[in-house]
Amino acid sequence: MHDIVQQYYGKELTSTADLKTTACCDSSNMPSWLKPLLVNIHADVLSRYYGCGLVCPALLEGCRVLDLGCGTGRDVYALAQLVGKTGSVVGVDMTDEQLVIAKKHQTYHAEKFGFDNVSFLHGYIEKLDQLNLAAESFDVIVSNCVINLSPDKEAVLRGVHRLLKTGGEFYFSDVYADRRVAKSVREDPVLYGECLGGALYWNDFIALSRPAGFIDPRLMESRTLTITDEKLAERIGNIQFFSATYRLFKLENMEHACEDYGQAVVYRGSINHVGDVFTLDQHHSMEAGRIFPVCGNTWRMLHGTRFSQHFDFIGDFSKHYGIFEGCGNNTMPFNHEMIENKGDSACC
Ligand SMILES: C[S@@+](CC[C@H](N)C(=O)[O-])C[C@H]1O[C@@H](n2cnc3c(N)ncnc32)[C@H](O)[C@@H]1O
Repeated sequence: MHDIVQQYYGKELTSTADLKTTACCDSSNMPSWLKPLLVNIHADVLSRYYGCGLVCPALLEGCRVLDLGCGTGRDVYALAQLVGKTGSVVGVDMTDEQLVIAKKHQTYHAEKFGFDNVSFLHGYIEKLDQLNLAAESFDVIVSNCVINLSPDKEAVLRGVHRLLKTGGEFYFSDVYADRRVAKSVREDPVLYGECLGGALYWNDFIALSRPAGFIDPRLMESRTLTITDEKLAERIGNIQFFSATYRLFKLENMEHACEDYGQAVVYRGSINHVGDVFTLDQHHSMEAGRIFPVCGNTWRMLHGTRFSQHFDFIGDFSKHYGIFEGCGNNTMPFNHEMIENKGDSACC
């Protein structure tokens, strides 16, 4: 599979326009504070963006960030501006042609930003231990439309967990399916290269995350993908694909269900760009100053991470009140548009 993917991203695709699905995002629905950062990025890099979501979580200043499958570096150069000169960003990719473009424009970006805080490594995301990166050395790991392309997703998740500091997070966008993908789709080189053939059934992704140490994956956002190439759409049949952004925190003592200990948090309204409402995930948007009841896992995601100084915490784990009502269930978590809605390419 590595050869097929290297051929696709190194030789066949020359720009975003060559893609055959709406997996790749335009910047129309991007938060307004992010747009000026993209303006600083070189056109050669922007024109080869093959991501499927936004991988810029809040509160990155000073962070050390790793981007898995960085391609020509659009996200690396956006994140470089967000972490600032006290932070750093490392991009990893296995395709030489992608890295050549990423590195070619490093000086251009250093001059634009006024600092050079990025580096690029050639390597495989299933073999992160071979890259001479210290364990527990990253605050945040991101990835944009890459894990689906990996033949060993379990190894990727294990490697990510090893590299994250405790309290760090894996924040990544990827493609998922509403069912297990048929062999004929999985083995079709174009469908694989287009990030569909290797997509995980969403419930298998949750099951894979837990043994790697990510007990409670949280969904940030999702959208239905449209296959714009008719021939490809025929080969796919009834499978529905989604682009989704998850955040996976590396934290001790996380529980398999949302348990109620009578706890609550109050957002202080102090995170840059976030304004009055902090969104932890699709189910938790917290208004500044308002008492917000949370389960034990959500409490830990705020208390044990870089977000803690922006919250007041109420309660502890001394008394258990049972399951936290209304928290999660077993139905498909994604925003679900009707399949007939082919013209709609709502984007990140
Ligand atoms: C869909 S593109 C996304 C690129 C980039 N994240 C972006 O948003 O433009 C997938 C990228 O992941 C890289 N890639 C795929 N599988 C990989 C692997 N197993 N190890 C390292 N890089 C990989 C490819 O070379 C390609 O550059």
